[in-house]
Amino acid sequence: ARILLINGPNLNLLGSREPAVYGTATLDDVVRLASDAAEAHGCTTTAMQSNHEGTIIDAIHAARTTADGIVINAGALTHTSIAIRDALVGVGLPVVEVHISNVHRREEFRHHSYLSAVADAVIVGAGVDGYRLAIDHLARKLQTRQP
Ligand code: DQA
Repeated sequence: ARILLINGPNLNLLGSREPAVYGTATLDDVVRLASDAAEAHGCTTTAMQSNHEGTIIDAIHAARTTADGIVINAGALTHTSIAIRDALVGVGLPVVEVHISNVHRREEFRHHSYLSAVADAVIVGAGVDGYRLAIDHLARKLQTRQP
């Protein structure tokens, strides 16, 4: 199965951005660990990162024909973007939402996600290992669906 990995705003700064909150792994490290995890299940990943809401929406739309499931860390757009939520619903693919940090232990404005209600699973606070957990879950889910 084909998994699209989406990382949103500021996640290109992983590794140097607030390491006490997000750790020292870089986005390249995340992409590598996700693709290794997918490979272990016989799945493939395509990774994209953008700081722009519309670009992320376009990637979700394109996934309709190029992916079987989506893992998304939408960064701060999680807390603001009804448009990304609508795009995920619009394409109808299984979705796992990831947050590196435990957003519930942080500022109030990070406690609400527009995406969680339309995600199949949400993984929060497991650090970058959350991406592996997300891929494991999604890959298993997609395998059991296949003929
Ligand atoms: C984040 C949490 C968001 O609140 C924040 O804006 C991010 C990263 C996380 O992975 O913990 O950019 O999604």
